[in-house]
Amino acid sequence: MRSGGVEIGWPNKSAVAKQADTLARTTACEFETLSGNALIQGDNLDALKELRRVGHRRYRLALIDPPYNTGGGFVYEDDRSEAAWLSFMLPRLLVARDLLAADGLMMIFMDEANLPILRLLGREVFGASNDCGVLVWEKKRKPSFLQAQMGSVTDFIAVFAKDRRQAPALTMGMGMAGKRYPFNNRGNPTAELSFPAGSVEFDLDDQSVPKQDMSTPGVPCRLLDRVVIKGGRNANPFRMQGEWRYSQASVDEFAATGQVINISRLPFRPNLVKAVPSEKKINNLLSFRTNPGIPTNEDALAEVTALFEGETVFDYPKPVGVLQYLIEAATDPGDAVLDFFAGTASTGQAVAQAGAGREFTLVQDTAPLPDTATGTAARKLCQRLGLPAHLASIAAERLRRAGLDSKRDFQLVTLR
Ligand SMILES: C[S@@+](CC[C@H](N)C(=O)[O-])C[C@H]1O[C@@H](n2cnc3c(N)ncnc32)[C@H](O)[C@@H]1O
Repeated sequence: MRSGGVEIGWPNKSAVAKQADTLARTTACEFETLSGNALIQGDNLDALKELRRVGHRRYRLALIDPPYNTGGGFVYEDDRSEAAWLSFMLPRLLVARDLLAADGLMMIFMDEANLPILRLLGREVFGASNDCGVLVWEKKRKPSFLQAQMGSVTDFIAVFAKDRRQAPALTMGMGMAGKRYPFNNRGNPTAELSFPAGSVEFDLDDQSVPKQDMSTPGVPCRLLDRVVIKGGRNANPFRMQGEWRYSQASVDEFAATGQVINISRLPFRPNLVKAVPSEKKINNLLSFRTNPGIPTNEDALAEVTALFEGETVFDYPKPVGVLQYLIEAATDPGDAVLDFFAGTASTGQAVAQAGAGREFTLVQDTAPLPDTATGTAARKLCQRLGLPAHLASIAAERLRRAGLDSKRDFQLVTLR
């Protein structure tokens, strides 16, 4: 495991890496036939190993939001030393990498403080050449000024590919790109083409180009008239002689229907430029300022409390809209998405909303809920609903309240 020269070391590193190679300590009979959406309750290292052992499915996207290690007193453990955090993450990332499709991606949410070690760790697991970069998510409309020097309004999503050469571009929506079709076609009979005034777009400054031989080796081509280029167009009609792909009738039609004939340089080589729809790559800033569809932490909290009668049963869930954006950008219809730090199952809801036959596998552990205000509210909710008091119950209940029927729409699997 090397990250292109730099390697991080910590006590126990090689021992914890070996944890990725052993079998799970717990299992469930459902693994043998697992298909469709699933929420697995239990430790994610065991769950990942079981998914690898049965080998039913490869994931196009693993989208995870692991504990940030902030010491935040949350409803789950979030206070490890850096070395302990790395030891916790390394075997999980190694097994999860095995579960990715050859063209799969892993996206990992992280705060600024832990992003550097996460990236180094990711580079070791995936290889430095498979580090695809970092998306910046503007997570807050108003900063809190807990840090002395500045308020923080961003979180990060580190993106790694199983194999960057095969991984897809992250795309959203369609744009128009120009595909160029050259006029010159070697071997065709020599003919004369006449271009009406204004019919050709030039990427050249205003000038007058005298008639001349514009042939280059293998490309016979003559400009038969002087051309005056003004404002990027031909001010006068002109003729060219050469071995052409298009007839005079085609040129007349291109001109009449306003299609783009482009000449970008000297010697002249005309091209037909066709507008073809192409998928637009996303940029790495995810912000409500530039994209009103990108929600914030405030929106995420409102989303979850609305599902749970106004109660706060989880600290800092991720907004479904951001997850859905990432899922749609990174996957195709029918792809499977894995989130092994499921929390409130926001990724499950996002996959369901992205739809088009996409499926999710979620993992959430069953650690006891702490005695914080949020933990107490979550425990009381579980008691009211007659569910075991842990976050996996909250995750399953969230999916149900978001409209997924727990028998028909997702399978609940319990590791024992
Ligand atoms: C930052 S939270 C994820 C929140 C989630 N993205 C959401 O929107 O609700 C991390 C979650 O991972 C869970 N977790 C931590 N360690 C785990 C483990 N070993 N196995 C399974 N889940 C674990 C925690 O209980 C917590 O719910």
